[in-house]
Amino acid sequence: MLRLAPMAVTTRHSASAYPFQCQAGLPLVGPVIGQEVLGQGMFCYDPFCLYDTETLLSPCMLVSGNKGYGKSAFVKAYLHRQSMAGKWLAILDPKGEYLDLAARDGLSVLGLRPHGPVRLNPLDAGPALPAGTDDVRGRRIGVVVALAESAVGRPVSSDERSVVTAALMELERRGGRAVPTLRHVMDLLMGPTEAMAAELNTDPEELAKDAKSVARGLHRLVEGDLAGMFDGASTTKVEWSGPGIVIDLSAVLQSPAFSAILVCAGAWLAQVVAAKDRQRIIVVDECWKAIRDAGFVAWGEETQKLSRAYGVQFVTIVQRISDLASQADDGTTTSKRAQGFVTEAETKVTFNLGGGEARASRDVMDWTESEALLVPKLPRGRALWRVGEHGAIVQTILSSLDVAMCDSNQAMRSRS
Ligand SMILES: Nc1ncnc2c1ncn2[C@@H]1O[C@H](COP(=O)(O)OP(=O)(O)OP(=O)(O)O)[C@@H](O)[C@H]1O
Ligand SMILES: [Mg+2]
Repeated sequence: MLRLAPMAVTTRHSASAYPFQCQAGLPLVGPVIGQEVLGQGMFCYDPFCLYDTETLLSPCMLVSGNKGYGKSAFVKAYLHRQSMAGKWLAILDPKGEYLDLAARDGLSVLGLRPHGPVRLNPLDAGPALPAGTDDVRGRRIGVVVALAESAVGRPVSSDERSVVTAALMELERRGGRAVPTLRHVMDLLMGPTEAMAAELNTDPEELAKDAKSVARGLHRLVEGDLAGMFDGASTTKVEWSGPGIVIDLSAVLQSPAFSAILVCAGAWLAQVVAAKDRQRIIVVDECWKAIRDAGFVAWGEETQKLSRAYGVQFVTIVQRISDLASQADDGTTTSKRAQGFVTEAETKVTFNLGGGEARASRDVMDWTESEALLVPKLPRGRALWRVGEHGAIVQTILSSLDVAMCDSNQAMRSRS
């Protein structure tokens, strides 16, 4: 029997001694991300070009990995490079860490805080779609339902959804093209009208019973945690033709209604997304905080579904994949739906994860055994990429300007 002596070689040598051990690279289109470690070439990525070549069927991206291994740094560098290529950016920024990117690329910054100067109406119709069309109504129903789910902590029933629909139709009848607010919807859910009842072939008392939980939930949000932020007409005029927007949520990160705030801010963004006139990238950083929230999951699901039709890449960043996936067997609808964040994302960028987490995530991430063993050994800035069927290990390359923009350790160092 032929026996070969064990041999240790560098990756560079093994690539020439053992060709065909790694896949051919992706086409060199889109911004450079870094270096492909096994193939030794440049790694470029643009979901829109890859969609055109049918390498990807969905533009959504999931970025995961342990604290401090380079998730946000990669996303910031990627966004900057995409901004230079003309893409419109929107970032829901829970830690207020994208302000340097905003300054560098000229993005507008909206700082949200209760009773602060910025108020956004998540029911805004948007620039391209006239109020009163079914598209706008459908989106508004989605927002109110997602908020109601956040507030009551469970998916809403079909009866509850019907009352929300009836309330929005009533507001259209009354106001024509006037934009309704959450407060208007809440008032109608608390006191349904004869016309709403007739729409559903019932009487106002019965309707009020169906609407009770949703109405109380919305009341708690509008009068409490969301007060002054989402309960009236928008105070902000955004330059939609500009490079994009950062919604700074750092002042409300500790709020118990943080998920509902994300939903409202995201819903407000949906108005511009629906305009379809430019390729756009929407990022939700650190969304694990909201991931068990029925409303946030419903909103994310809806946004991912629309992303292809609207030419939007939806990027979610989490520390642990199990926050999204391993709960899927616990039987709750929210948990099952949360797994959609993993399965819908055809681009998965995984930085270092602990061994247990990597093993537990193997099936849902569709990794080979070697990939699951590799993930816990990845150094900072290096990630396992899955782009459709294509796999690569990529070291993100940051320029000196990127490093200054991405330094999340600044606060730690300035104390020493
Ligand atoms: N590719 C890289 N090259 C050089 N430095 C990097 C690279 N990636 C990350 N860093 C540095 O590592 C530090 C942590 O990175 P980052 O903030 O991106 O981590 P994170 O994974 O987002 O962590 P958290 O989960 O806490 O948000 C930053 O100061 C950043 O500048
Ligand atoms: Mg981060």
